[in-house]
Amino acid sequence: MDLKLAGKVAIVTGGGQGMGKAYCLGFAEEGAYVVVADINAETAQQTAAEIRAKGGKSLPIKVDISKWGDVSNMFNKALSEFGHIDILVNNAGVRGMAKIEDFPEELLERDINVNLKGAFYCTKAVARHMKERRYGKIIYQSSSTAVRGHEAGGSAYAAAKAGMLGLMRSMAKELGSFNINVNAVVPSVFNTPLIANLPEERKEINRKQSVFGRLGEPEDMVGIVLLLASDRASYITGQSILVDGGQRPT
Ligand SMILES: NC(=O)c1ccc[n+]([C@@H]2O[C@H](COP(=O)([O-])OP(=O)(O)OC[C@H]3O[C@@H](n4cnc5c(N)ncnc54)[C@H](O)[C@@H]3O)[C@@H](O)[C@H]2O)c1
Repeated sequence: MDLKLAGKVAIVTGGGQGMGKAYCLGFAEEGAYVVVADINAETAQQTAAEIRAKGGKSLPIKVDISKWGDVSNMFNKALSEFGHIDILVNNAGVRGMAKIEDFPEELLERDINVNLKGAFYCTKAVARHMKERRYGKIIYQSSSTAVRGHEAGGSAYAAAKAGMLGLMRSMAKELGSFNINVNAVVPSVFNTPLIANLPEERKEINRKQSVFGRLGEPEDMVGIVLLLASDRASYITGQSILVDGGQRPT
């Protein structure tokens, strides 16, 4: 099936590595132009270079999504390069871990500011433009911890990711009449640098929880994100799609 993404312009936050990088490469493969937005300028450039090496169009931008000035600048740069923005994937995220009684203030602020406020800012930056064009696709990358909780100290992360779902549903309602689709993807445990420090026993539990007996790989997420970013999913909005390998309790 042709998703008809050729010539569409997608901003992917956190596009330097992990799932964000997989989305950038996936969009480029479909002929979309990709804004690789990441706080890490080096990895953003690497992803963008990979896209260009395959004949695609991309623009790396260094951005800290928790800062409005950075986000606004990202939007302006993307617009002046490509002329319009069709798709926003709010993928960038961070996860701090600490017991609730010891949770450091800075970690709490960082997790809320990047995961929730960052997604809010990026949505705010594209909203006027998408409304004027009466076209847009916004996708939030939440987490299964938003609905199931986090057992090992990721409480601020889980709370921020749950907040993203409230933001997503509100945006679906607020922006729907402007022909803007807003959805969330809700992954379980995926094999990316984010979980590099997860103890092996924990990963083994997660592998067993999936009916496939393995963790998710970034490529497992690409299909659903590209579909939601396309007009093939034009009557889907306000939804959160759980991608968890059929997770069941062990
Ligand atoms: N890996 C998992 O198991 C898992 C599960 C559920 C949800 N998620 C979510 O999926 C998304 C992608 O995760 P991943 O596993 O690929 O993580 P990752 O750590 O591999 O990649 C995250 C990217 O976001 C960037 N980033 C971090 N803070 C930023 C900021 N302030 N501004 C801009 N960019 C910033 C990082 O530089 C990095 O490139 C995250 O939102 C994460 O919370 C991951």
